[in-house]
Parts: sequence; C-alpha cells; structure tokens
Amino acid sequence: MNSDYQKYLRQQLDKGVAVDECRKCWDRESQGLPSLRQNINNMVTDGLGDNLDQTWMPVYFKNKKDYCADLLLMADVKINNLCNFSCAMCNAADSSIINNKWSAQRDNEFVVEYTDTNLSYFDNIKNAYQVKNGMQVLDEILNSSVKFLKILGGEPLLNPKLLARLADIPEKQRSKINLMFITNGSVDLIDVSTQLTGFRSIYYIVSIEATGSMQNYVRRGSNWPDIEQNIDRYLKYASTSTAKLGIEVHTTIQALNITHYAGLKKWCDNRKIKTTITVLETPVYLGVSVIPDKIKKQAVELLTEAKSDPDVQALLRLIKETATDLTLVEKFVRFIKWYDPDLELLDIDPVWRELF
Ligand SMILES: C[S@@+](CC[C@H](N)C(=O)[O-])C[C@H]1O[C@@H](n2cnc3c(N)ncnc32)[C@H](O)[C@@H]1O
Ligand code: SF4
Repeated sequence: MNSDYQKYLRQQLDKGVAVDECRKCWDRESQGLPSLRQNINNMVTDGLGDNLDQTWMPVYFKNKKDYCADLLLMADVKINNLCNFSCAMCNAADSSIINNKWSAQRDNEFVVEYTDTNLSYFDNIKNAYQVKNGMQVLDEILNSSVKFLKILGGEPLLNPKLLARLADIPEKQRSKINLMFITNGSVDLIDVSTQLTGFRSIYYIVSIEATGSMQNYVRRGSNWPDIEQNIDRYLKYASTSTAKLGIEVHTTIQALNITHYAGLKKWCDNRKIKTTITVLETPVYLGVSVIPDKIKKQAVELLTEAKSDPDVQALLRLIKETATDLTLVEKFVRFIKWYDPDLELLDIDPVWRELF
C-alpha cells in the first residue's frame, strides 16, 4: 500500500498528471463512456456521482503530503481458482476445471501459449493459493477498516468457508462494509443474501455472455434456465428485503457472443438490471478481430435497436473500426475445434457454418 510506486502514483494523480497506467479510464471518459474510476467514485459517494469534493476525502488527504495511506478503503480479493465452469475465454489461473484440462494437455498449442512465456505457469498457479491463500489475505484485510470489499475467484460463492468467514465478521464492522461479489450466477443468490445479513450493502455482478444455449456454450458448465430462475427469484426477494441489495449483469464481448449481446441486453432491460461490458482483449483469437464481415453486419443490425446505451454505441464503433485478421481467424477455428471437437457451435449458432 505504501510502496514507492504507490506513493509516486498518488503524487502524480494529486498533481493532476494523467498517468498512462490509468489510460483505460481516461480513454473511456474522453469517449463519453462511464469509466471504472467514475463507477468506483460513485460507490464512494453512495450513488451521488463521481465527484469526491463534497465527501470526507479532501479533508482526509489534505495533510497527507508524504502520500502514505493508512486507510484501506477498497480491496479486491481473489480467494482461489475453484470453479464449476470452464468458460471458453477463461484460463487455468481462474478456473480449476480449466487448470485440470490444461495440465493434462501441456503440448497443446493453446496451453503452450501460456507456458512458453511463463515456464512456471502451472507451478505459479499452485503456489499462488498455497504460499498465502485468499482466505489469509481476507483475514489481513478484515484487520483494517475496509469499506468496499470485492470478492472474486474462481467462483467465490461456491466456497462455504468464505461465506462462514464473512458471516463471522463482528456486527459493528459488518455494518460498515459494502460487499461485492463477481459471480457466475450458478449459486442461489437468495441463500447467500440470507447467510450474509448485517452488511452495509451487498452487490452481485453476475457474469453472463448470452441468453439460452449460447450462454451454455461460452460459459461451459452453465445451465441457462437455472441462471434465469436464480436471477428472477433474487429480484423478487431483493424488492421486498430490507437489506441494501443490488445486482448487475456483466458481459465480456467476444466473437462468440457478438450477435447475442443485443438479446441479452433486452433480457436485462426487461428486468431493469444494469448492464456493463468489457471487450475481450486476450486471448486475442477469441476477440472482435476474428469476426467475419457477414457476422459483423448481422451484429450491427441487432445492436442498432439498443443504440441509446452508451456502451452499445461504443461497441458499434469498435465493430465498424476493427478489421478482420485472417491469421487470427484460422487460430479461432483451431481453438474451437479443440474446445468443441463435435462442433456443436454450428448447430447452436449457424452464422458460423460458412467460416467452418
Ligand atoms: C475470472 S471471473 C471470476 C468470477 C466468476 N467466476 C465469474 O465468472 O464472474 C471474473 C470476470 O472475468 C471475466 N473474464 C473471463 N475471461 C476473461 C477474458 N479473457 N477477458 C476479460 N474478462 C474475462 C469473467 O466473465 C468475469 O466477469
Ligand atoms: S465462471 Fe468465471 S472463473 Fe469460472 S471459468 Fe467462467 S470466467 Fe472463469
């Protein structure tokens, strides 16, 4: 927290220098899109916008000219890589199922890509959760007066020890913590919410790539009717609960779901669920640059219906500006043949038939 680098960053930001490390947020803001910086500031002001001037922060930081921090305001904790899914775009460090599959196929082109640049790739994954596991990190964080605690994994809600540890936080401390879970939506959100009472708020960011069979295809292990039912039941529960509960759907935009995002957006809008997106950057052979023109055209037509949404506007611009990279397209085809040897994709989404 107080490394020379962190102090340097605070100093630069205090001087108003737009450091390159924060480029993604500045870029989004200059395009008129909400940035992570703004979203997080908005959380700190309890939904009153992203300007921190009227909060306790300026007073707190006024006398901190050494740029050392003694307050841990917000923490992201990755507990471990235990997961019940093996999503197409994910990797061994985040999913235990993918870790098992990749460990047994170390010569595969797509595994070698990770191990080539990092010879200790699999050892590092093993060590990451042994030397100091996520629960120990969580204990350290709970020794401070953290106000925003974001938990991810793997699938964090699969971990009963984690839920028990959170439920065990003394009542006074709990009442000051805003909990946030990044989850794949397979675990009953009402169960979790009823186990974790007394927090200042609980917010679920549910990662979904599409509705129906495409969700099940990209997020392998997922069963769409269960996820739909889980969210619908939760919405009903949250609307009558006295606890401060919230939910949002987060989508990683990639080649496989580009023609499906419009449908998912409609599904969320019908339920008044906030949506956010990230455009996949790695692995690059699953990204927007492998989409053939014909599929891009179809995606643009479908997305145009939702073009009042700033994220959709940015996505439309990105699709139009991104040229198809034929070398990557070949790699995409090879990846799909490895991920899905029976090519079920072509029945689930016939738009890909021509390419294959
Ligand atoms: C690794 S997951 C862990 C939490 C939980 N298992 C889930 O899926 O929400 C955290 C987030 O990363 C996203 N993600 C997975 N692979 C990604 C990739 N290649 N690029 C960008 N985001 C990715 C997931 O969709 C999810 O929103
Ligand atoms: S559910 Fe999350 S951690 Fe699990 S494989 Fe999918 S993206 Fe990775």
